[in-house]
Amino acid sequence: MKYSGLLLASVLPFAMAYEYRVGVGKDETTGRKGMGFDPSVIHPSAGDTIAFEFRSGVHSAVQSSFDNPCVGNGGFNSGVHTVSDDLAVDAPGLPIVRVTVNDTEPLWFFDEAGGLCHQGAVLAVNPTAAQTATIFKENAALPPKPASSSSSPPSTTSTSTSTANDSATRPDSSASGLAVSGWLATAAGVVLGGLFM
Ligand SMILES: *[C@@H]1O[C@H](CO)[C@@H](O)[C@H](O)[C@H]1NC(C)=O
Ligand SMILES: *[C@@H]1O[C@H](CO)[C@@H](O)[C@H](O)[C@H]1NC(C)=O
Repeated sequence: MKYSGLLLASVLPFAMAYEYRVGVGKDETTGRKGMGFDPSVIHPSAGDTIAFEFRSGVHSAVQSSFDNPCVGNGGFNSGVHTVSDDLAVDAPGLPIVRVTVNDTEPLWFFDEAGGLCHQGAVLAVNPTAAQTATIFKENAALPPKPASSSSSPPSTTSTSTSTANDSATRPDSSASGLAVSGWLATAAGVVLGGLFM
């Protein structure tokens, strides 16, 4: 589906901007309230939107950097959102803050207000083969780097050998944010895939 998706993006002029709904304070493995972002990896295109939707507790989505995942980089900051514990995980009317994706460069975020960045409350947007979501999460588990550490190569901090999954799929397509345009894209991709067999 990856290739048909890429093909689709280049041949279908009517492809709509897509909104990636990302739960903050929602465990992506259980689908319940919990730590982190659901999903924790997305691959939006330029012009798409990320909609951060805040779950119970105190959370924020703050832009950081690959090397220093748990420190804001002065970019996007959703502000702090407090949601009652009484609300169900997918209750209607949860607070949402949107940010537009302007290109396909990687973007990195963490839940600053939630305070669990070092345990993995991070979001990777358009990770690359060199800068994977897995290594980003490993970087988050490390002590914060001093501000002057930019001269040290980031790869020395990683021991990961498992990078294949991060970019091989579009996990967002299975997330709650799947919209009609996404369904159309999938359906059209199948048709195109068939045409190009
Ligand atoms: C994209 O551009 C808009 C308008 O300049 C800006 O508000 C937004 O923060 C940018 N998105 C990112 C992820 O920087
Ligand atoms: C990669 O995917 C395989 C199965 O497709 C899974 O067993 C493995 O745990 C995944 N690795 C990561 C790092 O997600």
